Amino acid sequence: MNYKIKKIINKKKKSQIVCLTAYSKNIAEIVDKHADIVLVGDSLGSVLYNYSTTRKVTLEMMLEHTKSVRMGVKKSLLVIDLPYNTYRNKSEALKNSKIAIKETRCDAVKVEGGVRVQHIVRHLVQNKIPVMGHIGLTPQTIKGKFKSVGKTEREKKKLIKDAKALETSGAFAIVLECTYSDISKKISNLIKIPTIGIGASVYCDGQVLVTDDILGLTDAKIKFVKKYVNIKKVINSAILKFKHEVKSKKYPTKKYSY
Ligand code: KIV
Repeated sequence: MNYKIKKIINKKKKSQIVCLTAYSKNIAEIVDKHADIVLVGDSLGSVLYNYSTTRKVTLEMMLEHTKSVRMGVKKSLLVIDLPYNTYRNKSEALKNSKIAIKETRCDAVKVEGGVRVQHIVRHLVQNKIPVMGHIGLTPQTIKGKFKSVGKTEREKKKLIKDAKALETSGAFAIVLECTYSDISKKISNLIKIPTIGIGASVYCDGQVLVTDDILGLTDAKIKFVKKYVNIKKVINSAILKFKHEVKSKKYPTKKYSY
């Protein structure tokens, strides 16, 4: 097993896992300094391309963004989301995972689903492709509105089954998205691999958020998103200054000229 993967698994119950998204080199370089896992999420479809659904994201898009991110990632585990319709069966999943790893030099792939994709996860792991699972709210297959999962007994049972299925199939970690605190806690205590929560409470073994959201680059108004800075404001004032200096010919001075 890849030593980076082992390191992530060994963190369970010892130290919280930090995971953030990156879609390009410049952000990846900064995230890499502080995160354990850098995820090139298919959330880039909505964040960068304004798509109404991640289903429109293609493998080609993911490959180009991951190649850029790879240049900025030196120490963290680099995970790529396999987009919708790229892992419909075992051979398709293996073919596309191999392409992703060969072309981007990422360390692992992430797929959405539990019991439904367990045969695919097992097949990938048997072929030495490290896999991260993703259950709870799964944007690639959701029907209707985004909402939290695991309130009813039926939903709780399904989540437990899904988590166990991913663990026994060989996934090295599982993203829990928008699951209620009690079920996140139960799953995290039940399985031996780490759970990484997004809107899934502090009881997970780590947390993941979309970097553009925490920087205030998006206008996301989601309950679990905490904005740590309003970077739009910072960028705006720098660009405004540049504009004023260009108009008033304060820029470029001799220092910036040949
Ligand atoms: O696509 C994504 O960025 C994700 C994370 C937010 C978990 O799947």
